[in-house]
Amino acid sequence: MIILVVDALSILFLVVVLLWIIVPAIYGLPPIPTRPERIRKALKLANLQPNEVLYDLGAGDGRVLLIARREFGARAVGIEAGPIQCAWIWLRVAASGFGDQIQVRWANFYKAGLREADVVFIYATSKEVMKLAPHLEQQLKQGARVVSISADFPEWEPSALDEHALIFLYEMPPTRGSITSYMLKKAK
Ligand SMILES: C[S@@+](CC[C@H](N)C(=O)[O-])C[C@H]1O[C@@H](n2cnc3c(N)ncnc32)[C@H](O)[C@@H]1O
Repeated sequence: MIILVVDALSILFLVVVLLWIIVPAIYGLPPIPTRPERIRKALKLANLQPNEVLYDLGAGDGRVLLIARREFGARAVGIEAGPIQCAWIWLRVAASGFGDQIQVRWANFYKAGLREADVVFIYATSKEVMKLAPHLEQQLKQGARVVSISADFPEWEPSALDEHALIFLYEMPPTRGSITSYMLKKAK
């Protein structure tokens, strides 16, 4: 009996670990989290305010949502394709006591409604960011900010940049340009 229970738990554990890795891989993004210090820098660069709504596109283990709520006082919404990640975020949020201010949606961020977002946080590859650009342009309201970790939007000119942490900030509607046009303006 004990052996059966141990076997069942081992299989369950294996399935959970595989799903945690495989679902992000199917969507083309590895489940690699952003370091908390870099998240804080990004949210400061975006000037996230307590009365605002932060969206994390691909919420992973929910750390961006928790920092946005705990340290910036914002309401936070995570869009996440991985069912295990969603369950894990749900548990973390329930334990944190911020259940009414943090929401997680099991969804594909290319199809998600983003109209209420004031700040959108993205940690994705250059390829994903390029694919996301039209959806963000169509969905985001005027004045919303997009903060991207590591990958820049090749057809948008950033409004600010943290060169050391490699964090790009954009304001909607985006200014046509690129990182090069931003650098040239800064050098003048
Ligand atoms: C690089 S991790 C970033 C996690 C978190 N944002 C952070 O910075 O710590 C990317 C996450 O995006 C999720 N993801 C990838 N493609 C997605 C899609 N199309 N829709 C929703 N989530 C997606 C993956 O499952 C993964 O958890």
